[in-house]
Amino acid sequence: MALTSTSPRPPGGVSQEWQDQVYEGDAQDVLATLPAESVHLAVTSPPYNLGIQYAGYSDDLAYEKYLAWLRDVWTALSRVLVPGGRFALNVAPTSIKDFRPIHHDLARGLRDLGLIMRTEIIWYKQTMGRRTAWGSWRSPSNPHIVPSWEYVLVFSKGGWHLPGDRAQADISGREFEQFSDGFWAIPPERRRNGHPAPFPEALIERLVKFYTYRGNVVLDMFGGTGTVAVVAKRWHRHFVYIDRSPEYCAAARIRINETRASSAPSVKPRIAPSSTRRTRASGTTAADGQGRVASR
Ligand SMILES: C[S@@+](CC[C@H](N)C(=O)[O-])C[C@H]1O[C@@H](n2cnc3c(N)ncnc32)[C@H](O)[C@@H]1O
Repeated sequence: MALTSTSPRPPGGVSQEWQDQVYEGDAQDVLATLPAESVHLAVTSPPYNLGIQYAGYSDDLAYEKYLAWLRDVWTALSRVLVPGGRFALNVAPTSIKDFRPIHHDLARGLRDLGLIMRTEIIWYKQTMGRRTAWGSWRSPSNPHIVPSWEYVLVFSKGGWHLPGDRAQADISGREFEQFSDGFWAIPPERRRNGHPAPFPEALIERLVKFYTYRGNVVLDMFGGTGTVAVVAKRWHRHFVYIDRSPEYCAAARIRINETRASSAPSVKPRIAPSSTRRTRASGTTAADGQGRVASR
């Protein structure tokens, strides 16, 4: 396991040795070395098991073995999440020909481990221009739906609420309104840095700002090009990057070291959208964090 020191210090945050590191190693092995209840948000997209050739690794396990392996990774992850900590799992639909409801199967596995499934976000990739696989063109015989989207399945450990200092929330009112609409139209990443499946930064920025406070710890145990670490550093969070590929770790290290923390001023106290303001002012009802309306 190799470490690198990048160590940004978010305002008010205390840097600890295990944070802000690139860990070269197996996800489960590295997770086992991290302190329990230390991570506020994990964001990842696991190898998809579609036979994609990652550097030094081919992902083509039998489906049940693949699910069992990921369950072991999620178990190791669950230990390091703080109470109320979140896990955002990006997963793409499988191929049309060998379709499997992988997002259902992964969600089932995570819920069986006791995690709360809080939502699913549709990441619409706007790639329909490139489509070729129509199936039976203009015939009901066997037409194909082409997956132009991916899922981001979001879970919480133990409870819905993440304790934290509200002054360390850095999401603007406009961003909050936009991100809380679960249909996210974001083009896929085009700069691949030799990697077959990098995250677009915009996707990760939304998750980091929506689900964490400044100074929190954000982890990706299948870190690839390092997008999660870069975005976490930029937005004054700590990061933990894990990948078994020395090649991707080296590329991620360079990218992380080149990233500067944002100098954006902290946002002003949020003003609730007009509909919520009205209800609050009336002193009758307000929506809680789970979309339920409660009496006040
Ligand atoms: C789908 S990619 C993740 C891409 C990443 N989200 C990005 O923005 O670049 C999956 C990554 O998992 C890594 N990987 C595969 N098996 C692993 C394991 N057992 N432990 C840690 N990393 C692994 C691969 O090297 C690959 O970079």
